[in-house]
Amino acid sequence: MTPTLILRNCTLANGPADIAIENSTIIAIEPHLAITAPTEIDCAGNLVSPPFVESHIHLDSALTAGQPRHNQSGTLFEGIEIWRDRKQTLTLDDVKHRATEALKLMASQGTLFVRTHADVSEASLTALQGLLEVRDAVKDWITVQVVAFPQDGIYGGPKNNDLIEEAIKQGADAVGGIPHYELTREDGVRSVHRIFELAEKYNRLIDIHCDEIDDDQSRFLEIVSACALRTSLKEQVTASHTTAFGSYNDAYAFKLMGFLKRSEINFIANPLINITLQGRTDTYPKRRGLTRVKELWQAGLNVSLGNDCIQDPWYGLGTGNMLDVVAMAVHVCQMTGLKELDACYDMATGYGARTLNLQDSYGIEVGKPANLIVLDCTSQYEAIRRRPIVSYVISRGQVLIETTTPEIKWQRGVG
Ligand code: FE2
Repeated sequence: MTPTLILRNCTLANGPADIAIENSTIIAIEPHLAITAPTEIDCAGNLVSPPFVESHIHLDSALTAGQPRHNQSGTLFEGIEIWRDRKQTLTLDDVKHRATEALKLMASQGTLFVRTHADVSEASLTALQGLLEVRDAVKDWITVQVVAFPQDGIYGGPKNNDLIEEAIKQGADAVGGIPHYELTREDGVRSVHRIFELAEKYNRLIDIHCDEIDDDQSRFLEIVSACALRTSLKEQVTASHTTAFGSYNDAYAFKLMGFLKRSEINFIANPLINITLQGRTDTYPKRRGLTRVKELWQAGLNVSLGNDCIQDPWYGLGTGNMLDVVAMAVHVCQMTGLKELDACYDMATGYGARTLNLQDSYGIEVGKPANLIVLDCTSQYEAIRRRPIVSYVISRGQVLIETTTPEIKWQRGVG
């Protein structure tokens, strides 16, 4: 055993430990390691966690807020219109530069696994090409999956159906969709079937923007669930957003929950954005516009979290910080119990890895790749409450980023 890096005095979720890493692999986790390494970090009892998993982001539109104009209504649909204009000016360099900047921002806050959507509604497929190139360029320090996402609908334009298949052939990792934005309900149903057909044909994961609307009659989730059951793709399938689930009547929601448990699909909630996008057409009471995160988790289904947007036509705010997302989920979903707080943390870490189908290579265990973060706090509870800095980001066995805590200096005595 010849470790290259040792982290001492770590607090893991299950107690204190030292962690030894050899090259890019975790080789020992013990209370007190007697061996030494050329590089050692004293974690001083701070929380050492697997990296955050960003389950849902749009890197092609990241950092474009205000281009060519700001979203004044705050609705999903004005966002789509603004993006339709902005994407006419996309270039490969533009996409690659912004996506890389966003990934660096996310990594500096502890995220090392990312699933991004790439809009494949434009004939040039510039967004897809840019994100595939970025995915390959950054793979030594951050893992990126790319979803072929037909923003304007698979049947919303004459070429869109062919474009999504072409995007998959070019190397997208997952097939996406947006059934609630297809021109008719029939097109929406047809689009879900088409997504499953493509996923089976090309052996890809599925991640569908599903029912991201307050309309309680938007019920494409049941189609996704039925297709997942019939194809046995199950955990390879993810339903993103599903905000209409928050508006369904309880009798229908109860029946649906039983089907969902059988289908074993994953869910992604994006609480930062959906608390601002949804409920816009309500007066009062005004809906929270989130899917039933707590109930899905209680039912044993896998739920993870995403930022969705960083400064784009749908959400002009955001820094890509997963702890911001977790904190918002805790509040909006009323998951303030201690086990619920831990569950929300897991939704940004291990449950996210499950959504991305990465669980075999993810986690702090001997034999697994050495990807981990050191937070400036001692527990997951504190991490959510204070949203501290990430002191060290360790990627593939090497220190990728070190950040020091800002020092507060009182200039005169008070109280
Ligand atoms: Fe999205």
